[in-house]
Amino acid sequence: MKKKVIAKAPVNIALIKYWGKEHEEEVIPYTGSLSLSVSELHTTTMITECPQGFSFILNGKKASKEDASKIKKFLLHFAQEHELEGICIISENTGPTASGVASSASGFAALSKAANVFFETYYDDQTLANITRLGSGSACRSLYGGLVVWEKTGEVYTIREDGFDFIMVFALLNHHRKSISSKQAMKNTVKTSPFYPTWVSKTTQDLVAMKHAIHVEDLKAIGELTQSSALAMHASMLAAVPPTLYLNSHSLEIVHAMIQLQEEGEFAYPTMDAGMHVKVLTNQQSLHKVLETLEHFKVKDIVVTHPEKGAQILHEE
Ligand code: PMV
Repeated sequence: MKKKVIAKAPVNIALIKYWGKEHEEEVIPYTGSLSLSVSELHTTTMITECPQGFSFILNGKKASKEDASKIKKFLLHFAQEHELEGICIISENTGPTASGVASSASGFAALSKAANVFFETYYDDQTLANITRLGSGSACRSLYGGLVVWEKTGEVYTIREDGFDFIMVFALLNHHRKSISSKQAMKNTVKTSPFYPTWVSKTTQDLVAMKHAIHVEDLKAIGELTQSSALAMHASMLAAVPPTLYLNSHSLEIVHAMIQLQEEGEFAYPTMDAGMHVKVLTNQQSLHKVLETLEHFKVKDIVVTHPEKGAQILHEE
């Protein structure tokens, strides 16, 4: 066992969304997905020796018992229970804290990257990805950089390292109430949405189309598939019983504004996850227009992000 290990992992935003598990325990998705790992928003996690017990500190605060035991359970993939005594996990998310940006993906990727070295398990990349997705499905994509594919088979890999120098603008809206977890919402969509089978076949086809678009560098197709995947994912959960409605009127107004920008020839494609925030896939040329347009909306924070490398070890001793 090492004395101290620090790892860092990026947040990733799916262009082709993952929504629904075929196998809950093993986190086998119904479809593959594809994401962009981004800079500026990431998690840094330190695992170190502690005087006693097991503790998990998140953004400077001792985590709840529930969160700590979730982390401890996850670490059993790397260590025996007694080895977790006297271990401290200290995790920091950058960017606007508590803004609702899904940080569980970067969080579990940083944790498993660090644990693999700290506990000297040294699993190979694919084994580490298989373990990481048990923490949070999308987390396995944060282990890799640029444009990343997570296949239905479990395989995870970078398909395009530089991510075409895309820019992902996060338009963070005000949080009014705690939304339902992605885990709960996807389970309900799979079980009750009449659109779910259509979502699975559409996503299977969209992933093939997206890989092709990346291969032939068809940026417009990449943008259109990104927008379509997000809207179809939300449509599938709107049709669930009870419905899950993450988007609010502000989110939809921004989506409208981005579609308007596309009509004016700009590269500005919205995507939304398990929350009301809107992220816009854009490029250097259209960035100015996107930011100018977002100024007209009630946006709490805007974060401009760029393609980033995958999870890395920053320090070990
Ligand atoms: O990784 P989870 O279980 O939190 O699910 C993530 C789901 C979405 O963010 C909505 C889509 C995705 O592919 O990241």
